[in-house]
Amino acid sequence: MRLARPHAGMLFGSGKIAELKARFEEAGIALVLVDGPVSPVQQRNLEKEWQVKLLDRTGLILEIFADRARTREGVLQVELAALSYQRTRLVRAWTHLERQRGGFGFVGGPGETQIEADRRAIDDEVVKIRRQLAKVVKTRELHRAARRRVPFPVVALVGYTNAGKSTLFNRMTGADVLARDMLFATLDPTMRALALPTGERVILSDTVGFVSDLPTQLVAAFRATLEEVLEADLILHVRDIAHPESEEQAADVVDILESLGVDPSVPLIEVWNKIDLLDADRRAALLATDARRPGVHAASALTGEGLDGLLAAVSEALGEERVHEVLHLGFGEGRRRAWLHEQGVVTAESEADGGFALSVHWTRRQKGRFEAI
Ligand code: GTP
Repeated sequence: MRLARPHAGMLFGSGKIAELKARFEEAGIALVLVDGPVSPVQQRNLEKEWQVKLLDRTGLILEIFADRARTREGVLQVELAALSYQRTRLVRAWTHLERQRGGFGFVGGPGETQIEADRRAIDDEVVKIRRQLAKVVKTRELHRAARRRVPFPVVALVGYTNAGKSTLFNRMTGADVLARDMLFATLDPTMRALALPTGERVILSDTVGFVSDLPTQLVAAFRATLEEVLEADLILHVRDIAHPESEEQAADVVDILESLGVDPSVPLIEVWNKIDLLDADRRAALLATDARRPGVHAASALTGEGLDGLLAAVSEALGEERVHEVLHLGFGEGRRRAWLHEQGVVTAESEADGGFALSVHWTRRQKGRFEAI
């Protein structure tokens, strides 16, 4: 249902309110979601009138974020967003109370002291959380530096919410990440190692689903979950190709990646997921397009169709040409030798004067990383 003109106190006109009330009662509705902003006054009035719990868009996304946040940073960012949401609502709620008591909302009314106190309490809490966040961010940088020392290429899965990222992630890595038919089954990036057909290892990173028109208060919480995308060597953009708004969703994702500051030179593969849901005609048309367009791969994370091709494409996108080389390492270079084995690039190894001779088959990128150890 679309609203032509919102009513100040109740959002809807009285006829619509009565009509909806009857429908809610009949269906036994307990929770009503409004896809847009609802003021605290409207929320209270409607909840009272309809005897339901009502959430607006920001409130709903906050509930989901709070439910799904797993890392310390994710949790703190969500708390911060919730506090700023509450703070704006405090002010408006006060104005409303003042009106009810017959005041005019002038500063200095009887409600002011309490509101000021509440606001101060929120501000204090915000300062505390920001301090904790600064610490968490520092630790995260340490972790990242540690990971960089064993530097596998990072492949980030991004995409609209419910596109099938977690399902694909599971399929590719055999990991048991939450995959449910709900929004934001994953809030914080989840990372797993994955061996490509060539033997090269990569880190696959699952990220939170994107939504359109994310309320500005929630942007920081959302970004905190997408740090890994900025470091990715390859991005897999997972699309629900069977969704009626697939194109719009894809455009949103591209916009968000751009606004996050993702380097445009990072290669990107579009995964046209859920092809198992298409009828024969659409499927044939789509597979024909897929074959024509480089950087596009049709697949089904559910049935596994197309995934071998996708893995090959990942190797190809990451791997430049591979060359054979023989390296000589001293006995004391155990760490560098272990790194080569972890990367799966060693084809033969023997002991030779004071160390090891290793035959490797690797990319220029791997060679560069090895030399940096
Ligand atoms: P968010 O965490 O919200 O961002 O979602 P997500 O992109 O990780 O999606 P998820 O993997 O949780 O999948 C969402 C729903 O789509 C689940 O019900 C999956 O079973 C279903 N799904 C995923 N891939 C496929 C597919 O290839 N075919 C079909 N038919 N369903 C799929």
